[in-house]
Amino acid sequence: GEFGSNVLYSIQKQNHMKHVARVALLETRTVAQFGDSRINHQLKERQRTINSFFNHTSIDKVAAQPSVRLDPATILYSGKSPDGSHILRSAQFLHKELPVRIANRIACFRTLPFIVVCNPTIMAVHELYIRAFSMLSEFPAITDFKLDKQYSEMLRDLLDDHRDEVTKLASGFQECRKYIKEEKLVQQFLDQTLTSRLGIRMLAEHHLALHQEQPNHVGIINTAMKLKEVVDYWADYSRQIAEHKYGKTPVIKCNGHITASFPYIQIPIDYIIPELLKNAVRATIESHPGTPESSLPPVTVTIANNDVDFILRVSDRGGGIPHHLLNHVTQYHFTTASHSEEEGAGVFSTMISESNHGPSGPMHGFGFGLPTTQAYAEYLGGNLTIETMQGIGTDVYLRLKHIDGKKGSFRI
Ligand code: COI
Repeated sequence: GEFGSNVLYSIQKQNHMKHVARVALLETRTVAQFGDSRINHQLKERQRTINSFFNHTSIDKVAAQPSVRLDPATILYSGKSPDGSHILRSAQFLHKELPVRIANRIACFRTLPFIVVCNPTIMAVHELYIRAFSMLSEFPAITDFKLDKQYSEMLRDLLDDHRDEVTKLASGFQECRKYIKEEKLVQQFLDQTLTSRLGIRMLAEHHLALHQEQPNHVGIINTAMKLKEVVDYWADYSRQIAEHKYGKTPVIKCNGHITASFPYIQIPIDYIIPELLKNAVRATIESHPGTPESSLPPVTVTIANNDVDFILRVSDRGGGIPHHLLNHVTQYHFTTASHSEEEGAGVFSTMISESNHGPSGPMHGFGFGLPTTQAYAEYLGGNLTIETMQGIGTDVYLRLKHIDGKKGSFRI
């Protein structure tokens, strides 16, 4: 349970966290008297979390250390040592690097307006980061495979514990957006938090993947990714969701360089592609009410691959994005689903539970899909652009640089 939003919202000034800590202490004492050791343990854990929040100096000190960003080409061409020492080196790198990155995330939360940090959902995410910081920075130096195993298990747990963070941030900001005057600050916070989180998760997943022998893979890098196969997979997924929600779905065609195969990291693509396809499918269906499935215009995905980058164009005949909405679709919280707030908590809760697994499940959520996708594309050294023909349909272009090291790409 949370502290209770009543308590939190009644606090006006910047010393709110001190107050919260005091409340936690009181609660600990009361519960201790009742002797419920489980609750007592939870409260102690929370108290520890809050204490470390006040221990600004340790987090700030770590945040001030330089962060080392990895070049995917270096990963790609770095060899495996038969004695597995590359795994130990990887663990040692993370052991130093992750606390720095997480400390920077925590520092970022402190720049948010007071009223936002008070939101219980946002506070819960903030606390999750503080917890991750203490777990990761208190872990002993990784000198052997036994310690690496423990460290890797902890990473796996942390990845799971943080899995729903985008959904949590989305619903948290949704709840308090009416108090937010400076939308730009929130946009910056989310761009920064979500892309940095993507980097952190890729690093952690990479380390875990190094332990497995998967054909055509060096850690998280698929050395021969067939883009068309990825598109086909998410096309099926998007069509199934549409079938479930609307009872019909357009065909998704794929053309262009359909045999293209090159090294890439599939994690971000597995987020981006379904978002783009779901948007196109939904626009097609919703702009053709009463049209039978067989008469729906197809969604067409075109793949272009060249030495420098690869481009994906998703074209729909879904009526286009109206002029007055065009500037909004790449801003967080804007959702093109009409009156989504009026649909009530029922819809909301299914959206939350569905989107907890893999890419966001529903056809429309909190209006996070497109801005997050755009932020990811830019983090990956690429971009996402939208060309819309009002009254006809929309083309979305995703352009991403290759990681094979011939030209500069991005850093994780
Ligand atoms: C995140 O998913 O936000 C993380 O930072 C995960 C990390 C603690 C392993």
